[in-house]
Amino acid sequence: MIKRVIVAITGATGCIYGIRLLQVLAELPEVESHLILSPAGIITAKHETGFDKKAISVLADVCHSHKDFGASISSGSFPVHSMIVAPCSMNTLGSIAHGLDNNLISRAAGVTLKERRTLVLLPRETPLHLVHLRNMTIVTEMGGIIAPPVPSFYQHPVNIEDIVNQTVGRTLDSLGIEVPDLVKRWEGLNKESTTE
Ligand SMILES: Cc1cc2nc3c(=O)[nH]c(=O)nc-3n(C[C@H](O)[C@H](O)[C@H](O)COP(=O)(O)O)c2cc1C
Repeated sequence: MIKRVIVAITGATGCIYGIRLLQVLAELPEVESHLILSPAGIITAKHETGFDKKAISVLADVCHSHKDFGASISSGSFPVHSMIVAPCSMNTLGSIAHGLDNNLISRAAGVTLKERRTLVLLPRETPLHLVHLRNMTIVTEMGGIIAPPVPSFYQHPVNIEDIVNQTVGRTLDSLGIEVPDLVKRWEGLNKESTTE
């Protein structure tokens, strides 16, 4: 059965996470990816990665304007498996936490939550003030998953690609989508050791 996964890219630093997610999902025949780009996301993506709106859009199966409140994914009656916001700006986090539905990203995220589907946010800001932290708590209380894109150095990443792949793979773990060879899995400090 087809899995529709919404990927929203917003204007926080780290647009590469959303782009890599789309590249990985494009390799999975069972997944239909739906992309929403915020205007700030387009600016940061171009600045950080060189990918413009068109280069990102071709990675998705379906693209939606952030202004299109009539889009299929704005209704809970349209079957969607899950949604990821990667990266998630503090602006979009606040909009989702407070149910503002003021663009298609926060509308689709609100629909995902109300339909009790999986919503994963990769919020990016540092340091965090109280409202950022409270908004993350609110989304968690509503059933969303807050997964900040923080590297795991115990896996000894050697380049940015390793760091991005690990985060993307662990994000897909949250959706129940396992992609071979994307995540380095922890196998214990000493694989040979036996328990005493
Ligand atoms: C280069 C660049 C980096 C930014 N990084 C962040 C960030 O890490 N986190 C954040 O919340 N906002 C960041 N911003 C600001 C957001 O883009 C801005 O708040 C915008 O209104 C977010 O809108 P959106 O949620 O619709 O994408 C950054 C802006 C620029 C230009």
